[in-house]
Amino acid sequence: MNLEEFRKRAHEAVDWVAAYYENLEKKPVKSQSKPNDIYNQIPDRAPKSPEPFDALMNDLNNIIMPGITHWQHPHFHAYFPANASFPSIIAEILTAGMGAQCMVWETSPAAAELEERMMEWLKNLMKLPTTWSGVIHDTASTATLTAILSAREQITQFAINNHGFEHQKLRVYCSTETHSSIEKGAKIAGIGKENVVKIPVDEQMAMNPKLLDLAIESDLKNGFIPCCVIAAIGTTSTVAIDPTDEIGLICQRHNVWLHVDAAYAGSAMILPEMDYLRKGLEYADSFVFNPHKWLFTNFDLSAYFVKDKNALIDTFEILPEYLKTKTRGLVNDYRDWGIQLGRRFRALKLWFVMRSFGVENMQKTLRNHIDWAKWFEKQIADHPDLEILVPRSLNVLVFRVDNHKSSQEELNQMNENLLQSINNTGKAFITHTKVNGKYGLRVVLGQTYLKERHVQELWDLLQNHVDIKN
Ligand SMILES: Cc1ncc(COP(=O)(O)O)c(C=O)c1O
Repeated sequence: MNLEEFRKRAHEAVDWVAAYYENLEKKPVKSQSKPNDIYNQIPDRAPKSPEPFDALMNDLNNIIMPGITHWQHPHFHAYFPANASFPSIIAEILTAGMGAQCMVWETSPAAAELEERMMEWLKNLMKLPTTWSGVIHDTASTATLTAILSAREQITQFAINNHGFEHQKLRVYCSTETHSSIEKGAKIAGIGKENVVKIPVDEQMAMNPKLLDLAIESDLKNGFIPCCVIAAIGTTSTVAIDPTDEIGLICQRHNVWLHVDAAYAGSAMILPEMDYLRKGLEYADSFVFNPHKWLFTNFDLSAYFVKDKNALIDTFEILPEYLKTKTRGLVNDYRDWGIQLGRRFRALKLWFVMRSFGVENMQKTLRNHIDWAKWFEKQIADHPDLEILVPRSLNVLVFRVDNHKSSQEELNQMNENLLQSINNTGKAFITHTKVNGKYGLRVVLGQTYLKERHVQELWDLLQNHVDIKN
């Protein structure tokens, strides 16, 4: 492809994306593909000679698109969203065009300095502790692994980085509700999943801090080294908020690293009224949230903040000859702030998003989502055959059908069937969770381009299916 053809095809590609959004609501939200449907349509060898570009676009439309679940569909209410937005998409196109690899300041000073500024903008907007430093990672899983590794090195005085594990028996603590990335992080960090101590939760599904304290005390008596506590501000299942202030005091007393996982709910901290989410953050050693979930920034972009950037850099810094620069120490070389060496220029999309939306519009969109979730919650509460399983947190609802006559097991099956039949319509995609053994439907009202009418449509769809089931 030469430059002229690139220009033509790239314009067509943008038109393709615009048409995609225009027609999104006509598509079934969840892909209806069966296993191997796509694989079997792709030849088993790369083509020897160049193929016409039209053939490629045809195959994109006919083979690939049926196998895509439409995450940007306003009726994608599953998992947590991976919000895109038009300014963010444009920034992704421009970033791809530059193709810069931003491992150290010198390999693109603008990428490093924009990243520094964007982290400051977020910190300021979210009223995070002013002394924190921020860096962009790909995902919250990576950021949490980074936190566990930093905590490991801090508590062992870099012994494991230098000599490997000898006899240290480290422990990581989180609630029974926190995300699986913590167990994965502990496995990768060599701590072992058996050394992840899961602390029971209260009726709000938030960590019980007294039991955390007891677990740490008991571990200390038994020769374990408490290394890291992970508090969740917004668990995956029900968006429960752990009491970070009480947990923080316990960490301070025992000299344990406190990492806060606010992967989803962190975005809500751009709302000044959300002070309850920020409570206790001053105790945190590290904090992660994903603008790629609920802040209109295309996947992937995870914002990771640390109290002491040296604890991070000392854990990850490696200095081969070819990466030595004259500006070292004067600037941020982000390769030292995490696992990967090569880095994408992710900050650009955050800049485009924040400047194009403006703070007011970002706040307005989140407030709408939360208000519409309140309305939805009221409809559920007023419905004789629906039961809220945990109180709404932000814009996430967990509820089930209860016909007041079936056993728990039957109700679980009934709700599972209900979920399937709603998803089979293709009109919406919702997922489930289990709360104290009860199968619940879980609805997130958080899409970038969600409108009030979509919320009404979802309620109508749900009601119709509940009526049919009974
Ligand atoms: C609370 C929480 N933490 C961490 C993660 C992992 O996020 P990522 O996909 O960015 O690794 C998730 C994913 O949904 C999450 O809900």
